[in-house]
Amino acid sequence: MTDVNLPLHPLLAARWSPAVFDPSHVATTEQVAVMLEAARWAPSAGTSQPWAFLVGLRGDPVHQRLVAHLARSSAAWAPAASILVANLAHRFVEGTDWDYSEFALYDLGQAVAHMTFQAQALGLSVRQFRAFDRAGVEAEFAVPAHWQVTTMAAFGVSPAGAAPGDDPARPVPQRHRRAPEEISWPSRPQSAPHAGETP
Ligand SMILES: Cc1cc2nc3c(=O)[nH]c(=O)nc-3n(C[C@H](O)[C@H](O)[C@H](O)COP(=O)(O)O)c2cc1C
Repeated sequence: MTDVNLPLHPLLAARWSPAVFDPSHVATTEQVAVMLEAARWAPSAGTSQPWAFLVGLRGDPVHQRLVAHLARSSAAWAPAASILVANLAHRFVEGTDWDYSEFALYDLGQAVAHMTFQAQALGLSVRQFRAFDRAGVEAEFAVPAHWQVTTMAAFGVSPAGAAPGDDPARPVPQRHRRAPEEISWPSRPQSAPHAGETP
C-alpha cells in the first residue's frame, strides 16, 4: 500500500507503476474490451472524444510491432507486459475537416486514467511510459496525419512480492510527492489567515 496522507479510495491508494511484469500472465480480450469501454466513457471537451488506441496482447502481432519501437530503457521491462497500448490523440492539421479540440491531449490523458483504474479494478497494474519511438509507431501503423501517438501504457501483473517503487533500473524509488500545500493555491491550510482574507 502506498503511504498516502488521507483515506483515498483503495484503487487510488494501491495504484503504482510496476517496472517488472510477470511474463507468464495472460490477459483476455474481455479485459481489453472493458478497459476500452472505460476510456470510451471518459469526459471530453464538447464530447470530442479525441482519442484512439493501438492495443496488443502479448504474443499477437500488434504487441510485437509495438515492442519493435521501444527505447532501450522500456525494452528492458515492457515486452513482458500482458497488454501494450499506444495512446493516440487527434492533432490539428491545416485543411483537414475534423473538428479539432485544443484539449485533445488533456482529454486523452483522462481517458487513459479511466482505462488505468478500470484495469486496476480487473486486477491489472499499469505503467504509462514515453520511452519509445513515437514517429516509428506512427509509421509502423500508418497513423493518419491528424492523429498523434503520444504515450504508451503497459498492463499486466507484477511478480509476487513486488512493492511500490521497485525498479531494477532505479535503485532509489522515485515516488516522492509534493506536499498538499504546494499543489493547492492559495496555500493556507497550515497558516493563519491574513488580515482581510476569508479563513
Ligand atoms: C506521461 C508519462 C510518461 C512516463 N514515462 C515513463 C518512461 O518512459 N519510463 C518509465 O519507466 N516510466 C515512465 N512513467 C512512469 C512514471 O515514472 C511513474 O508514474 C512515476 O515514477 C510515479 O510512480 P507511480 O506511478 O508508481 O506513482 C511515465 C508516466 C507518465 C504518466
